[in-house]
Amino acid sequence: MSQLDVFRLDGRVAIVPGGGGAIGSAMAAALAGAGARVTVVDVTAERAETAAESIRAGGADVLALGADVTQEGDCERIVGATVERFGRLDIIVNCVGGGAGKVLFDAEAYPRDAWDWIYELNVRSTLLATQAAAKAMIAGGRGGRVLNISSVRASLGINAGYSAYVAAKGAISSLTRQWATEWAKHGITVNAIAPTFVDTPQVAMLLEDPTFKAGVVSRIPLGRVGGTDDLTGAALFFCSDASSFVTGQILGIDGGLTATQ
Ligand SMILES: NC(=O)c1ccc[n+]([C@@H]2O[C@H](COP(=O)([O-])OP(=O)(O)OC[C@H]3O[C@@H](n4cnc5c(N)ncnc54)[C@H](O)[C@@H]3O)[C@@H](O)[C@H]2O)c1
Repeated sequence: MSQLDVFRLDGRVAIVPGGGGAIGSAMAAALAGAGARVTVVDVTAERAETAAESIRAGGADVLALGADVTQEGDCERIVGATVERFGRLDIIVNCVGGGAGKVLFDAEAYPRDAWDWIYELNVRSTLLATQAAAKAMIAGGRGGRVLNISSVRASLGINAGYSAYVAAKGAISSLTRQWATEWAKHGITVNAIAPTFVDTPQVAMLLEDPTFKAGVVSRIPLGRVGGTDDLTGAALFFCSDASSFVTGQILGIDGGLTATQ
């Protein structure tokens, strides 16, 4: 047996809401690459299927489902379909979220509709999908792994109209610690990663501005923004036996950004 075997996920089953997105598809591929059977979920079945197809090309067993994870019934449905297809559920990696750069408003006038949209997209999606997954994990009696995606913005203010996003990511970090505390008795660990800018379509527009990008990069000690591959090693750690004694942690994946603050 190799030391690396503690990172393997053979026999485990994972669900990845937002698995059709930039970070979600990389997460789903990494979990499958480590041996897990994976359900990829996205707003449309087509979007989920596109990601699933490329992962299946590597030989993995992948189910693709369309669902709106801000709806309780959809969350129950995708978890039910996963357990029906694969017989169990061990891991959820919550990759639905974002919207930060799309609704920038001064703090004193932050509009309620934009605030509610960011909360729905980031907090409600993570809350409802995780509640459904946790019930299945508790019923399965084998413990489990929950991995959330927070952001460096959960702990750093930014003078650029991000009120709702920083609050939503703060909520994700707080829920991570709360769930870790409550679900430890079931053998379920709950952790989060907190990236800085990751080069994805969601932030492409912002990073297209060379002055903006130079400003971002100048604040990151490692001198670049992240890539989706920078996140998957941490995800395998948090989703495998390698992290059996780690729960309630928020790992900055930020090239050293938060170390400078
Ligand atoms: N990209 C970055 O720079 C960055 C940095 C820090 C944190 N994050 C976080 O990482 C996560 C993923 O970001 P991304 O860049 O991959 O975004 P993305 O938009 O590429 O992926 C999100 C996916 O979620 C899906 N989705 C949205 N609403 C849904 C719903 N209600 N039900 C089901 N699926 C839904 C979208 O269709 C999309 O495929 C977000 O939480 C984001 O805040 C991103």
